[in-house]
Amino acid sequence: MAKKVILDLDTGIDDALAIFYCLGSPELELIGITGTYGNVQVAQGVRNALAILALCGRDDVPVFLGEPHALSKKSFEVMEISEFIHGKNGIGNVGIPDAERQPESMGAVDFIIESAHTYQKDLLYIPTGPQTNMATALRKDPSIKDRIGRMILMGGALTVPGNVQPWAEANINQDPEAANETFRSGLPATMIGLDVTLQTLLTYKETQVWRDLNTPQGAFVADMTDYYIKAYETTAPYLGGCGLHDPLAVGVAADPSLVKCLDINMKVDTEDPVRGRTIGNEMKLNNSDKTMNVAVEVDVPRFLDEFMARITRVAQGS
Ligand code: BDR
Ligand code: CA
Repeated sequence: MAKKVILDLDTGIDDALAIFYCLGSPELELIGITGTYGNVQVAQGVRNALAILALCGRDDVPVFLGEPHALSKKSFEVMEISEFIHGKNGIGNVGIPDAERQPESMGAVDFIIESAHTYQKDLLYIPTGPQTNMATALRKDPSIKDRIGRMILMGGALTVPGNVQPWAEANINQDPEAANETFRSGLPATMIGLDVTLQTLLTYKETQVWRDLNTPQGAFVADMTDYYIKAYETTAPYLGGCGLHDPLAVGVAADPSLVKCLDINMKVDTEDPVRGRTIGNEMKLNNSDKTMNVAVEVDVPRFLDEFMARITRVAQGS
């Protein structure tokens, strides 16, 4: 039976690819998208998620507005680097029509809590932005940590440097307190960080495959991803492609054998000079009960094959 999935997205370009990946995965049933801030403001991310679902003919998937800023802040400003990588509208400045519907009246936090109670261990929660929604849900109903099957998060860096600070990755850096609370909560979690996502790269060769489909979905995903590849030519020219961060988290949800993990209880530093660092929790180093693991190896060719097959299936539009 397909696992129930909540995607918690700051819908930028790789988040959008994560939606496509999820829609193209028979192992996963997308029961809802919860919006967070990060690559864009929360309202823009939710707008993008709704528009992408409409483009893919999936207006049946509900979308929920989440928390608009970090736990310790009163507002949120999009970072210049985020706008450079994802475009002003978050999806590479590619224009697609607004959906005809609005987000649900229930908020993201309540939807997460309700789903945890309804689906229990069948529920996979996949955040690919800051972890403010889950931290807020855990504060409201701590019992959900024992109910949800697993959180498979894109964020953090254990064995490699960060991407917004030498010690911090972007999603964790947006709200270190939130990530620290979810990491320490005991919620079973797999961290898909830069350790593995910067090994999974896409080039213009693959996006041309989607453009050649001659469908609105193929044109959208190709143009949007080309914007992202172009940005990577400036920010990380040594990689030779763009990092498939968020889709890899969905890939691991569909097929955990794509990565090898280190079992380790994690924490996030919240104090300077290493605020936002994801690292082993020294207080729980010797606990036999490891509630977290961190992906440290990825089967790159197999993931890229899966990625292309699944995105292309959705981009075909049939
Ligand atoms: C993460 O940061 C965001 O910009 C991306 O969408 C991804 O989730 C990579 O560090
Ligand atoms: Ca993201």
